[in-house]
Amino acid sequence: MTLRSVVIGSGHYLPEKCMTNAEITTFVDTSNEWIVERTGIQQRYLAADGETTSMLATKAAQAAIADAGIDPTTIDLIVLATATPDYTFPSTATQVQAALGIHGGAAFDVQAVCSGFVYALATADNFIKAGSAKRALVIGAETFSRLLDWTDRTTCVLFGDGAGAVVLDAQEGAGTNADRGVLCTHLRSDGRHRDKLFVDGGPSTSMTTGHLRMEGKEVFRHAVANLAETVEETFIKSGVSPDEIKWFVPHQANRRIIDATAKKLNIDPARVVITVDQHGNTSAASIPLALSVARHDGRIEKGDLVLIEAMGGGFTWGSALIRW
Ligand code: UT7
Repeated sequence: MTLRSVVIGSGHYLPEKCMTNAEITTFVDTSNEWIVERTGIQQRYLAADGETTSMLATKAAQAAIADAGIDPTTIDLIVLATATPDYTFPSTATQVQAALGIHGGAAFDVQAVCSGFVYALATADNFIKAGSAKRALVIGAETFSRLLDWTDRTTCVLFGDGAGAVVLDAQEGAGTNADRGVLCTHLRSDGRHRDKLFVDGGPSTSMTTGHLRMEGKEVFRHAVANLAETVEETFIKSGVSPDEIKWFVPHQANRRIIDATAKKLNIDPARVVITVDQHGNTSAASIPLALSVARHDGRIEKGDLVLIEAMGGGFTWGSALIRW
């Protein structure tokens, strides 16, 4: 028998304020046509003044816990992916832990920017497989709007705020691809590319929060190549073929990256979950948001084979295969 991390609940939360492309054109030199054509984004949600990453994360977690129908105090591990923590420390995960009334187990943040949820899922899965946790809450939550230079049209039109979460439960499987749960994960990074996507501040450098800076074209080029590589690794290691994937839920950075990756991997466009048009790029929150949306609108069903992948600052990238 093999221990598997089975998804027993999912949930998400978006802030109330929705900013359309039209609204962005009122303060920066851009157009709805440019944003839609180059990215697929039509709108994004922005946290209200005083609304923090842990608040978004707590609401997504509460939705996932309600969906799972469990007592939150049975959760013995919280792994929260974010690049926009409430504070430099303590971790946002511990803020969420307290807000949920959980006083046992472990809670910590994972920092892998847009790949954060894949990293957090892989971490929680390994805790479960090692027998170190029985029930894990894995969250991706961001307030990227706070990192943006709102005068820089090359970045401010791309990102949004939000949170998504899943509850993983340790259950015995047969050790085959027919098992429910996380079937495999692959994580990669290459720190030589720091300057292509980074924030120009931090406690140990500028002692400020800083702003997001990106060489978009370079990131785009690496994204399509790296994502295809990590997914192909998943196919080879798992023995699963592209036509077996029921739902492909990629990181939602740019519609053109998603389409190019799906094409390169021979994944049917009808099987691709797209939320970038509605949410923009919510970094570590984008995959759990998309998973929860597709789960709750009836697309993802129990037993479906779901493939997730992401690439972000670092560079970091990775993928995971989950039987829902
Ligand atoms: O989630 C983390 C990973 N991040 C990503 O995956 C993002 C990857 N990169 C991208 O998605 C794309 O590179 C962007 C959407 C950021 C940019 O698209 P692009 O097709 O690579 O455009 P570009 O940067 O080559 O810019 C083309 C033109 C430039 O004008 P010139 O030099 O050709 O005159 C830009 O100045 O578009 C101009 N431009 C804009 N025009 C109107 C750049 N931003 C804007 C804008 N509105 N917001």
